[in-house]
Amino acid sequence: MDFIQEIARAISEVTDLDINDIVQSIEIPKADMGDYAFPCFRLAKTMRKAPPLIAAEIAEKMKKPEFLSDIKVVNAYINFYVDKTVFVKSVLDEVNKKGGKYIESETGKGKTIVIDYSSPNIAKPFHIGHLRSTAIGNSLNRIYKALGYNVVGINHLGDWGTQFGKLIVAYKKWGDKEAVEKDDIKELSKIYVKFHEEAEKDPSLEDEARSWLVRMQEGDEEALSLWKWFCDISMKEFNRIYDRLGITFDSYAGESFYNDKMAAVVDELKEKNLLTESRGAQIVDLEKYNMPPCLILRSDGGTLYPTRDISAAIYRKNTYDFDKCIYVTALDQNLHFAQWFKVIELMGYDWAKDLVHTPFGLVSLGDGKLSTRKGHVVLMEDILNMSVEKTKKIIEEKNPNLEDKERVAEEVGIGAIIFDDLFNSRIKNVVFDFDRMLNFDGETGPYAQYTHARACSIIAKSGAAKSESNVDYSLLSDEASFNVCKVIKEFPEKLEEAADKNEPYIVARQIIELCKAFNKFYNENNIMQSEDATKKARLSIVFAVRDILKAGLDLLGLKAPEQM
Ligand code: ARG
Repeated sequence: MDFIQEIARAISEVTDLDINDIVQSIEIPKADMGDYAFPCFRLAKTMRKAPPLIAAEIAEKMKKPEFLSDIKVVNAYINFYVDKTVFVKSVLDEVNKKGGKYIESETGKGKTIVIDYSSPNIAKPFHIGHLRSTAIGNSLNRIYKALGYNVVGINHLGDWGTQFGKLIVAYKKWGDKEAVEKDDIKELSKIYVKFHEEAEKDPSLEDEARSWLVRMQEGDEEALSLWKWFCDISMKEFNRIYDRLGITFDSYAGESFYNDKMAAVVDELKEKNLLTESRGAQIVDLEKYNMPPCLILRSDGGTLYPTRDISAAIYRKNTYDFDKCIYVTALDQNLHFAQWFKVIELMGYDWAKDLVHTPFGLVSLGDGKLSTRKGHVVLMEDILNMSVEKTKKIIEEKNPNLEDKERVAEEVGIGAIIFDDLFNSRIKNVVFDFDRMLNFDGETGPYAQYTHARACSIIAKSGAAKSESNVDYSLLSDEASFNVCKVIKEFPEKLEEAADKNEPYIVARQIIELCKAFNKFYNENNIMQSEDATKKARLSIVFAVRDILKAGLDLLGLKAPEQM
């Protein structure tokens, strides 16, 4: 039952207010002020009375819906108290019917969302800076899917551009085929770093690199075969990581995919009189909009990062007809996106408004930004391995007899990293700290997974296969049981909010709320030793929590092991 809707209906019957407006104004008050509250301040103008009087009048006139135990007026608020048994029954009946699908909805039915995320650059290592885009994008993908959207996940691989010219020069000068074959991406990134060191002393190397890029663009066989080789080597490493993270994409159309599509876009920009020449280059002047110009063609005819993004956006609109296209990248790309979004608008495409940049803050190890150029990179794979190793040690201490330790350590170790990344609002910088993320008692992935495993183990011990249908819910009238149901009931709204704001942390925090509520319930109520009817009732909470936690963790891209 939708309590808010029902309360709003009862209020609308005794006022001139629109039911949807009432729904919008109903709040969830702080402790002891009831379960829902309706503030009457806004009505003072039209009703020409003091808000507390209005509150009293509505409360007096309205017909109390059956599921309410009480209605009280406090100043300008009408506070509604839900009958606990009715509330608990309505939540648990539904969860036990739908399982984890309880939190899903069909809000997005018929709408398409494109999400561009992860998108690492080929021939550079997958470092922990890429972690954020990967984790956030993957979670948004799952969140939108749970809301019924058709989601297209795109890995816009950085597989074209100046870095290849540099890499070809570096490889021809200092590369060794065998070393690359053996140490793949590490060797490539080593010579890439060397290129930058050498180019500082000898700037002509940069010209050489540019001429190799031009050769690539002209279809030169040697240039292209080296390029292809570098791509294959990188993809092998990326796929190893995606497999471990459980991530797949619907499309891997990277920057090179647009090579044969950019000429038409450049022509279109010309036709629409948007291109101007500036020192030999072709640009779109954005001075009017207080931005530096958007670079479209270099003086040597080479295309640029924005050229490829503009082409990609037009291609995606034509191919997927998206309602929204979301780009998950670091905050330092803000200007890039603002510029080319503006170009799309100036081209006359009204869907420019549906392009959304979803930026995030930096990850650091506590000592500044991670960089590929200077060579202080922290490889993603090393980080995953470290976390899994540490988790193995913790499991060894906590539960030495656990079956399948390797798998659980992998699921918990990797889950810890992802959860930690998603626990705060995107824009906040993240300082990497294993002690924090692996704390089984903190607000962490392992804590949430552990709580889920606890629910699974209670169920296993009870011998029940599923929640029973004839439960006496009046046995769950204690505050702790009620509170678990309240947190579950809020979950679907939190999911909507997470999608509205593109913020997975809203889901992560709701998971922690549910874990806390459940652990309190577990500490206060003996489940196994209680008498039959009570045990049955309490178990119905355990089943519900198990299903909601599993579904919630899945929204963040975490596995939910049954034992830990
Ligand atoms: N490859 C870029 C990087 O590593 C991210 C690409 C993001 N997507 C896009 N369509 N520009 O910084």
